[in-house]
Amino acid sequence: MSTPEQELLAVSEKLLQCIDGGDWDGYAALCDEQLTCFEAEAKTHLVVGMPFHKFYFDLPPSGHKQQSTIASPHINVVGDVGIVCYTRLVQRTTDNGPTSSSANETRIWRRDASGWKLIHCHRS
Ligand code: GLY
Repeated sequence: MSTPEQELLAVSEKLLQCIDGGDWDGYAALCDEQLTCFEAEAKTHLVVGMPFHKFYFDLPPSGHKQQSTIASPHINVVGDVGIVCYTRLVQRTTDNGPTSSSANETRIWRRDASGWKLIHCHRS
């Protein structure tokens, strides 16, 4: 039997696998439709909802590979809400060979009858 913290780490890893693999259906299934987000692509604006995110999944495949690793996770559970903070290490192949980058992410999850759903993310 998993603890809520183990579940949240697993669901966070699954979400990043969906992003890296371009799996929109898998990503959308893990997100609340009213997902809010601050991320670099939104240029300091708060984005609400899924269409902003779908844009990236709908781009033609680049042919490059991407893999994310969660480093130094910190997970706090408050009732049916989970706050997951970590550094995301991203490895990508490019035309000039592999590159790595990192960003700090906070993801807030809410548990409903179907499991954990992402309700907010912040990447910086
Ligand atoms: N930009 C989508 C995500 O990080 O959840």
